[in-house]
Amino acid sequence: MKKKIITIDGPAASGKEKISKYISKKLKFKHLDSGILYRRLAFIFLNNKVDINNLNHIKENINKIKSFSFQKSKKIRTQEISNLASKIAVYNFVRLYINKLQHDFVTKNKYFQGFVIDGRDIGSVVFKSADIKLYVKVKAEIRAKRRYKQLIDSGEKSIYPQILKEIKLRDKKDKLRKHSPLVIPKDAYIVDNNGKFNFTIKQINKIIAKI
Ligand code: CDP
Repeated sequence: MKKKIITIDGPAASGKEKISKYISKKLKFKHLDSGILYRRLAFIFLNNKVDINNLNHIKENINKIKSFSFQKSKKIRTQEISNLASKIAVYNFVRLYINKLQHDFVTKNKYFQGFVIDGRDIGSVVFKSADIKLYVKVKAEIRAKRRYKQLIDSGEKSIYPQILKEIKLRDKKDKLRKHSPLVIPKDAYIVDNNGKFNFTIKQINKIIAKI
């Protein structure tokens, strides 16, 4: 039986994780957050003092990686790692490496028959033939407010205007990069996540009823 795939793309702090978790629980699909992979790689580069402006250095370091953790962790959710992740995400070499990790994750997983995968290019590039594609839209100011609260709640120091600035900068980087920029996949359903989550859930339930 062909494995089912739902993709969720959208800008920083648009609520992709919350939506993914909702769908994965409801349909008993496995959730994969591709952002974690970019963050984990950024974390490895930071620890290994990789010069992220030097593609050869990046390639050498990726080729040295023996095992790669998909684990969520507080230390990869900092603003420093968010910014670094979006800097290394511009390289095609990095993207191809992470795309393969995602495909292997789906292929090698014997237990699950369905997957919900979120990121920036999942429906447009990584899993182009997904069964359902979602694109989450939320105003930058609302996203910044939510991310600010998340960081404060997790004990990080945070300043709202700074978060808004960084989110806008990351949006720009993600949308304007040459390789796999953030776009609305042409066959995607738009999910409006500006309001209360109940409103979002209503939209999602209608869409996933089609699977
Ligand atoms: O959680 P948040 O939306 O802030 O970010 P994330 O999904 O954890 O992704 C961190 C960064 O990784 C993004 O700003 C992107 O630059 C990059 N990324 C990407 O290029 N492609 C993906 N599929 C996922 C993340």
